[in-house]
Amino acid sequence: MTDLAVETDALTVRFGGLTAVDGVDLRVATGHRRAIIGPNGAGKTTLFNLIAGQVRPTSGTVKLHGRDVTGLPVQARTRAGVARTFQITNLFDELTVTDNVRLAVAGADPKVRRTFWRPLHRFPHIEARVDDLLEQWDLAAVRDERPIALSYGQQRILEIVLATAGQQRVLLLDEPTAGVSKSEAENLVDTIDALPRDLTIILVEHDMDVAFRIADEITVMVNGEELVTGPPDTIRGDERVVEAYLGRDESDAA
Ligand SMILES: Nc1ncnc2c1ncn2[C@@H]1O[C@H](COP(=O)(O)OP(=O)(O)OP(=O)(O)O)[C@@H](O)[C@H]1O
Ligand SMILES: [Mg+2]
Repeated sequence: MTDLAVETDALTVRFGGLTAVDGVDLRVATGHRRAIIGPNGAGKTTLFNLIAGQVRPTSGTVKLHGRDVTGLPVQARTRAGVARTFQITNLFDELTVTDNVRLAVAGADPKVRRTFWRPLHRFPHIEARVDDLLEQWDLAAVRDERPIALSYGQQRILEIVLATAGQQRVLLLDEPTAGVSKSEAENLVDTIDALPRDLTIILVEHDMDVAFRIADEITVMVNGEELVTGPPDTIRGDERVVEAYLGRDESDAA
């Protein structure tokens, strides 16, 4: 039996003439933490879209825990255990922090989903779980606020709480520290680091320090292709990686 949480085989998607993801064979073992780095436009977010189901591949396959989900829509993949956060914050702005968490917890509970006529706050086990999560993630003090009143760092933490409120076993994080202040980013990285070890995490990250700190292994993508995968120490010294990033600097300056 396989202990791969995520496996892609020759995964490819073309948008018109552009091959955004090009023959990627990703293998992430259960409980591992993988960072995906690479220049802008390398195909990192598109790879997430292919794994979570927002985009269908032109060719190739996606497997979650050994099961081929290539043809399945987003909802079915969520049920298969994959959760993601987006590069841009994605919260219910009209609801309080507590209500956001309550909806996520209740939505993951099949018993509650079947008894929609009963107000959610009348389920003691839901309330207990909501309180636990708010305490655990240091959100209790802002529980009655709307997400917009939170710092970016707190918004990102809230997103992670929502994404993992169910029984998700694979978490895809797209640039969690983007737009977050340096001091808050540290707290956020600690939060991610403190997630349960049996949760498989794949993280797209521009900040190398964050990628190196969280990940067991790093995959470098360039032009839709996997350039190299390896432990942080190997990647740090890899000439091709240095070149890919220098190449980006030159084109940024142009
Ligand atoms: N739905 C789409 N339709 C057409 N082109 C797309 C679509 N989604 C992505 N692309 C293109 O595919 C390429 C890869 O984009 P993607 O967003 O995956 O890159 P990325 O590595 O996440 O970049 P960044 O670091 O800037 O977030 C880009 O050239 C992008 O413009
Ligand atoms: Mg992206």
